[in-house]
Order: sequence, then structure tokens, then C-alpha cells
Amino acid sequence: MRIDAVDAWEVLDSRGDPTVRVRVDAGDASGTFTVPAGASTGAHEAVERRDGGDRYGGRGVRDACVAVRNDLASAVEGRPVTDQEGIDAALVDRDGTDDLSTLGANAVLGVSGAVAHAAADATGRPLYEVLAPDSGSGDLPMPMINVLSGGLHAAADLPIQDFLAVPVGAGTYPDALETVWEVRRAAGARIGAERRSGGDHPPAVADEGGFVPPVADADAAFELLVGAIRDAGYDPGDEVAIAVDVAATHFYDADADGYALAGETLDRAAMIDRVVGWIDDYPVRSVEDPLAEDDWAGWERLADRVGDRVQLLGDDLLATNADRLDRAVASGAANAALVKPNQAGTITRTRRVLEAAQDADWAPVVSARSGETCDWTIADLAVALDAGQIKIGSLARSERLAKYNRLLGIDRASDGGFAGEAALAPRE
Ligand code: PGA
Ligand code: ZN
Repeated sequence: MRIDAVDAWEVLDSRGDPTVRVRVDAGDASGTFTVPAGASTGAHEAVERRDGGDRYGGRGVRDACVAVRNDLASAVEGRPVTDQEGIDAALVDRDGTDDLSTLGANAVLGVSGAVAHAAADATGRPLYEVLAPDSGSGDLPMPMINVLSGGLHAAADLPIQDFLAVPVGAGTYPDALETVWEVRRAAGARIGAERRSGGDHPPAVADEGGFVPPVADADAAFELLVGAIRDAGYDPGDEVAIAVDVAATHFYDADADGYALAGETLDRAAMIDRVVGWIDDYPVRSVEDPLAEDDWAGWERLADRVGDRVQLLGDDLLATNADRLDRAVASGAANAALVKPNQAGTITRTRRVLEAAQDADWAPVVSARSGETCDWTIADLAVALDAGQIKIGSLARSERLAKYNRLLGIDRASDGGFAGEAALAPRE
């Protein structure tokens, strides 16, 4: 079946910001995809196009939608809808730049994602099968689930972005969700007890549904989370481990060449010591972006010290970019790669980076953005490519639950194989 129509229009995401929704028609089949957006974006991501001007505070995406309907539609109309690779190559070619800055990565990814959904509809197969290699789709991923939020995602004093729970003791994907639900409830009770006496309103949540904790420093947040794991009846470390997204790019001060963390500025060596201290003092199993996106020397030094003990996960460092991943693998700067389709710009590029991480024995972690919709494509992508891990946000807000719930549906429809703790880096 060949693509005969491509349409795009502006919708609003979970922050209320405009984003691009694309529909692709191929005969009787059709597919729709909605593009996510980050807040703590990296400098090396494919370029998101915004209109500027007065509408929506400059964040409109009408120009990106026009680019879909004109430039990109004409590049893909008439092509077989199941030829994802050929279509993605044509999209990149039509843009003409590596970072997709001519037409916008949000325009390009919108079409790429909608094509995948249309191919699923055209073939009558679920998306996780359509996106899978010939060897078939993989296991349900281990989720790392946001419990406490700070940084650019929350009106909090806490500079660190995410404190997450990894249910390493869970034997199935549904068990994993249930375990973290208990931990999250216990964390909410602790925060509530601290904030007021009595009352049963849940604490305020941030962009990804994590609680905004009444603490300003990382140690207090770690202690709160460890306490919540215990309150929920789990062993911190053996049953529920902690993951942290430091998102350090956003408090790196280039002029001072240091990290401005809660009132103090740490030089590179002190920042590395601080991160190693957290790993020594708390049951931390995964650390994302502990250093800034271009602090290659810092990453390498940290990996030398703790890369054989914990997962060192590159988000802003790698930006789902094949060249940056190659460089990081060659220098041993990390051992795991966050994979975000809108950093890459097409489904094919996303898949290539994920597979390159697997080939290097690194752990890929498929990830949502802080600005999302109820689009659940990344759930299928994680299963299709056997990523082993997924990061969606907290167990709150429908744009997060749409993806967790999609995975429950895949669990139900499949044999329920679960990647489990073995999915985390460092790989044995
Ligand atoms: P972002 O946050 O979508 O705002 O970039 C997610 C992350 O940093 O992992
Ligand atoms: Zn991140």
C-alpha cells in the first residue's frame, strides 16, 4: 500500500505547549503520531522548529506543520508505507541538513512516526511487531520510574532533575509497576506528613508526574526515597534500587567551568567526587547525565571509577546521535544510552542508535520527553527492539500512563517475557 496523503496540524502537549500531530493515509490504512518535546534539551539534539512571534509565546509549530504538508508530503507520497527506511532517508534528504534544522526535526519525526503507525494498520499487525527486526520482538522493558522531581521540571529548590525507582526485584512487568506504585505512595505520605498535619491531598506533581519534594539538596532527596522504599516493605538496593537523572548540563557554568549545585560551585573533580559519594552512600544503580554534555574528560574519569558498578547513562551527552555514541563507546565515557526519537529525528535513526548501543554491549533506555501526549509509540519501540529498559516518568498523568498501560496491553497479548534487572549496565 502506498502513501497517498500526509496531513499535519498543531495540538497541545502535557505542558499545554503546541506540538506537531501528523496523519498519514495509505489506501484504507492510516496512522497518526504526535511529537514530544523536552524542557531540559541538549545542544546536540536534532533541531525542533518553533514559529517564534506572538502566538503561544513563540512556541507555535504552524511552520513545521506547513513543512509537513508541503515539502515532506511530496517526498513520501507514492512510496510503499512499509518502507520505513526508504521513507526516512527521503525525509532526511528533503530536509538536507544533518540536524534537520531546515524543516524541523519535529516535522520530520512527525511523518516518520505516522508512517510506522500507518504500516501497522496496513499490515494488520501491532506496532511492536512492525518495528521489530526479522528475529521478532523482545521482552517487556524494566521501567525506571520517576518518584521525585526537581531541576527544570519542577518548581522545586532541588537542582537534580529526577529521583527514580528501579524495581530490580520484580519478576514481571505488571509486578514492576505495582512495586513502584507502593514506593510512590509511601513517598507521597512522607511528603504529606512533612508539609502539614492532617489532610489527605496528594502532594503537587511536576512535569513528569513526580512529586515536588520539600527538600533542597540531593542527600535529603535520596534519604526520602530510601525511606519510602523501606516504608513500602522493600529492601533498598536488592528489591528496589535508585536511579538518578542529574541533568548536569543545566547547572554547568561554562564561565566558571564548574557545576553550580545548591549554592556552591564544584569543579569537575569535586563534582565527580560528589556523584561517587552518592553511589557509595545510597543504593544507586543508574546515574544519568552526572556531568555536562561536552565534559568528555569528566565522563571518562567517572566511568573509570564506577563504570563497572553502576549504569552510567548518557542523555544530553549522546543526544541519540550515532556519531556521539560512537565517540562515547570508543572512549568508554559511559555504558548506557538514553534513546529519544525526537533527539534523532526519524524512527530509523532512533533504531540505529539503539542497535549500535546493543552491539557495543551498552544498555539502551528508551525514553519519553517531559512534554508528551497520550501517544504510546515508544512503548512499542522498546519492546520491538528489545531495549530492555524504558523511562517514561511517574505513575501519574495520562500522557505517562498511556505508555505504561500500552505496555500492560503488550504484556497481556504476548508471552509476558520481562527483561528484568539483567537489562541494566554494566552488562555481565
Ligand atoms: P526532557 O527531560 O524531556 O525535559 O529533556 C527528560 C530527561 O532529561 O531525561
Ligand atoms: Zn535526562
